[in-house]
Amino acid sequence: MSFLLAPPRSPADFAAYYHLRYQVLRQPWNQPEGSERADDDDAPTTRHLMLHTPDGQLAGVGRLSPGGPAQAQVRFMAVAPAWQGHGVGRQLLEALEAEARRQGFAECVLHAREAAVPFYTRLGYAVVAPSHTLFGSIRHFLMRKAL
Ligand SMILES: CC(C)(COP(=O)(O)OP(=O)(O)OC[C@H]1O[C@@H](n2cnc3c(N)ncnc32)[C@H](O)[C@@H]1OP(=O)(O)O)[C@@H](O)C(=O)NCCC(=O)NCCS
Repeated sequence: MSFLLAPPRSPADFAAYYHLRYQVLRQPWNQPEGSERADDDDAPTTRHLMLHTPDGQLAGVGRLSPGGPAQAQVRFMAVAPAWQGHGVGRQLLEALEAEARRQGFAECVLHAREAAVPFYTRLGYAVVAPSHTLFGSIRHFLMRKAL
């Protein structure tokens, strides 16, 4: 199936983008709406990406930002439950990595939820160290990949 990858542009795009991020990454843990936003979401160096199905459903979102001098960081990868396991996360992550390469970053890092570590491992990332625990229960691991 050919999915459509594009950055959000209109206010409606951004509303849908943040809503999916909220539904996948915050709502299941009873977090309030708005908790899905990050301070640097509106920074000019932050790139957002959405993936739509051919019939217009929003299937996944993710973002890229600088993580250090030569380092890009992927955050807030979220695939709609109905679309998980269909290659959506792979397409999003590979597109974000391509953007990082285009910007000249040498490596990409991320803090993976424990349940997502096998996905990132499959995509070439290696665990560096355990990192934070979110909402008292979701363990994260710092992972990196040379670009
Ligand atoms: C984690 C997530 C982004 C992965 O996206 P996805 O669209 O479900 O994954 P894909 O279908 O693109 O999988 C890509 C590859 O990783 C593999 N993979 C994905 N999840 C896996 C898992 N839990 N265990 C082992 N392999 C896995 C797939 O089998 C696939 O391999 P293949 O290309 O050889 O077939 C998505 O499932 C999601 O949003 N989960 C809930 C929120 C979350 O955890 N976000 C990440 C926060 S750090």
